[in-house]
Amino acid sequence: MAFPNPFSIKNHLFLSSSLWLLLCYLEGAYVDADRPYHVVNVNSLLPGSNCTASTPGSKFGSQKLQVRYRHGACSPTGTGNKSPDSAQILSRDSLRVSSINSKTSGLYDTKETNVKTQELAIAGGGDYVVTIGFGTPRQDRTVIIDTGSDITWVQCKSCSSCHPLNESLFDPSKSTSYSNGSCNPTVGNFYKIDYKDNSYSSGSYGCDTLTLEPSIVIQNFQFGCSQEISSASDFADSSGLLGLGLGKEHPSFVSQTASKFGKVFSYCLPAKDGSTGYLLFGDEAKSLSSSSSLKFTPLVKGPSPSLYFLQLLGITVGSKQLEISPSTFSRRGTIIDSGTVITRLPESAYKALQSEFQRWMKKKYPRARAPPEEKILNTCFNLSGHKTVEYPNIIFHLGGGTDVNLDQSGIVWAKHPEQVCLAFAAKDKDDDYTIIGNHQQKALDVFYDIQEGRLGFGTNGCHN
Ligand SMILES: *[C@@H]1O[C@H](CO)[C@@H](O)[C@H](O)[C@H]1NC(C)=O
Ligand SMILES: *[C@@H]1O[C@H](CO)[C@@H](O)[C@H](O)[C@H]1NC(C)=O
Ligand SMILES: *[C@@H]1O[C@H](CO)[C@@H](O)[C@H](O)[C@H]1NC(C)=O
Ligand SMILES: *[C@@H]1O[C@H](CO)[C@@H](O)[C@H](O)[C@H]1NC(C)=O
Repeated sequence: MAFPNPFSIKNHLFLSSSLWLLLCYLEGAYVDADRPYHVVNVNSLLPGSNCTASTPGSKFGSQKLQVRYRHGACSPTGTGNKSPDSAQILSRDSLRVSSINSKTSGLYDTKETNVKTQELAIAGGGDYVVTIGFGTPRQDRTVIIDTGSDITWVQCKSCSSCHPLNESLFDPSKSTSYSNGSCNPTVGNFYKIDYKDNSYSSGSYGCDTLTLEPSIVIQNFQFGCSQEISSASDFADSSGLLGLGLGKEHPSFVSQTASKFGKVFSYCLPAKDGSTGYLLFGDEAKSLSSSSSLKFTPLVKGPSPSLYFLQLLGITVGSKQLEISPSTFSRRGTIIDSGTVITRLPESAYKALQSEFQRWMKKKYPRARAPPEEKILNTCFNLSGHKTVEYPNIIFHLGGGTDVNLDQSGIVWAKHPEQVCLAFAAKDKDDDYTIIGNHQQKALDVFYDIQEGRLGFGTNGCHN
């Protein structure tokens, strides 16, 4: 069958769609359920130098926890001009993926001390940050949000080997509510997190007040007060990490706040590097979810207790559902991760996706070669000279009959107009997890309802 030409659809549809097209050009992006493709301003795909943070008056204004891209113009730690390049981000992403795939459950007590060590914690990644207040009065620190980690930690004043940051180190002696040691007697007083890249964070547990929003304050929150961090650490340019893991292995933010937030949170990762998204907990997340008609898919059990598993059953590109058996994805399972960038698919699924995407693109855009250090992205096009680009919708078919139409920002990886790549990759090994990465989650409201065992997806963007 001939490839469906988007302009051959019925006239009345064509007219109304054209009007939409015109209106949406003004917005820089265009999505319409009638059409199985996006028309996107090429410049809007490229990294921008301006931060367009949301303003206090808006629904998700400055009172809410704003999620920012760590390497973008909105980064509060001012890494903007020395941010890693695309190749570094992708190589770190590969490290994170190999780290997830080799993650063993790892809490052990060393004999002499009561140090709890989390071995082989997931390294790398962590591209999105929020700024939260530690202690009383609050000391604002910018931390990575990570659904793949349990322990929350912050670099502390007593640290001898912490790295110069654009933020000063958290000073427990200036907090009237800080207590040294764990808030929970069953947990030791010291922690060490060994990341798979041989970096580590270690120190003593502290227990203090955490302020998320002026009206949302958590008492007696336990976190690691980092006294040592290895210089190779990928976490050097942030003040710490907010552990949004399930908390089955170590107390995580989610498990520690269960009575307050009922194990419910949601986030929206900004569509553009220079804009902001949000992170909401409990009732705030629920009230948004009820207004944005989420579609739900079950969280399922997987081989690791601390990762979030769901079922990916199929993929549609444009209006064509790829011929992939649902069982292709089920080998070892599919996880959703806030720290992995590029979605990793089983080889056969990736090949089918790649070939259909290429079929769409090749009529208009010449192929481009990805530089060797970005080789995981092997389907790239040269959009030089094009103001706008058209590329197909990509829809994930999930368990429970839920379809998620990815945002236009979550389909390609573009650092330069001459090299715009399909932002998906094949898994290294059959036995690796299938991973839904953060690039594909952009501009989606991702709602974690752990109590009810489900994940919700809303497609109204971060500022609906
Ligand atoms: C960024 O902001 C500056 C000053 O407001 C403006 O002149 C420039 O055009 C903006 N750049 C982009 C890419 O929007
Ligand atoms: C962080 O760095 C940016 C740019 O380098 C600077 O404008 C800003 O004032 C710094 N912020 C702090 C808290 O030092
Ligand atoms: C907490 O107490 C331990 C000893 O119990 C000490 O080694 C550590 O430095 C203390 N940490 C802080 C931040 O005071
Ligand atoms: C992309 O296309 C432009 C214009 O057709 C050309 O000048 C340029 O060399 C191409 N770049 C690459 C990397 O192929």
